[in-house]
Amino acid sequence: MITIKSEAQIEKMRAAGALLRRVEDALAAEIRPGVTTMHLDQLFERLVREAGGIPSSKNYHGFPYSICASVDMQVVHGFPSEEPLRQGQLLSIDGTLILDGWQADSAFSVVVGGGNDQAQRLIDITQECFWIGAKMCRPGVKLGDISHAIQMHAENNGCGVIRDLCGHGIGQEMHEDPNVPNFGTPGRGVRLQKGMTFTIEPMISLGDWRVYVEDNDWTIVTRDDSLAAHYEHTLLITDGEPELLTYPGVSVSEVHP
Ligand code: MF3
Ligand code: CO
Ligand code: CO
Repeated sequence: MITIKSEAQIEKMRAAGALLRRVEDALAAEIRPGVTTMHLDQLFERLVREAGGIPSSKNYHGFPYSICASVDMQVVHGFPSEEPLRQGQLLSIDGTLILDGWQADSAFSVVVGGGNDQAQRLIDITQECFWIGAKMCRPGVKLGDISHAIQMHAENNGCGVIRDLCGHGIGQEMHEDPNVPNFGTPGRGVRLQKGMTFTIEPMISLGDWRVYVEDNDWTIVTRDDSLAAHYEHTLLITDGEPELLTYPGVSVSEVHP
C-alpha cells in the first residue's frame, strides 16, 4: 500500500531528513586514509542519538550496525570494520535514522583521499543517474519511465545496474511500497502523486550487474569484482519539482538543469 503523507507528517520527515544530512556530512568530513569505518559507525550512532533520533538500520532484520559501509566491489550492506581505510578505495556509506517516528535514508560514495579516476568516474555516473531520475519525479509520471532513464544513463556509459536492490517508499517504515527499481520499462508502473515519499538509490558497477552475498549473509558484492557505487536521497513529490528531504535547500533543477 502506498501512503500519501499529510503536511504534518511531511514536516516530521523534513526534520528527520535534515538531521540525517547533518550527520552524514559530519561523517564525510572524517573520511581519509587511516580512519576506520567502525569509527564512522560509532560517530553516526552518537550524533543521531544526541539529536534524539534512533539509528534505524541497527537491528533491522538483524543488521548489526548503524551504517552500511561498503568498500570497492562491495555494493551495499557492508559491515563497518576496524580495518583502516586506504588511499584510493571507493567507500559507500548508507545511513538511516528515525526521528519522532519518521524515517530518513541517504547514501553517498567517495574516493578515500582522492586519486582514483576510475572510481571517481563511476561515482559521477551514479550521481548523474540519481539526478536524472530525481528530475523526473513529478505528479503523473510513471515509475517505469524513471527506472528506464536511470538504466539508460548507466548502460550508455558502459556501467552495470544492480538489479537485486531498489529504491523504495519510506515513511514510518524504512521500506514501504512502491519499489523503485533502477532499471525498467517506460510507461509501466505506479503513477506518481503529490505527497508520496520514496528513495531513489542507483547502485551502479563498472562492470557486470550480477552480484552475490558474502558469508556474513548481508554484504552484496559484484560477481566480477568490479567497483560499485551508491547514491541515495529521500524525496517528496510536490506540485512541481521534488523536494529532497535528505538534502534540504538543494533543488533538483539547480544541480541538474
Ligand atoms: N539504507 C538501506 C536502504 O537504502 C537499508 C539498510 S539495510 C540495513 O534501503 F539492514 F542496514 F538496515
Ligand atoms: Co539507504
Ligand atoms: Co534506501
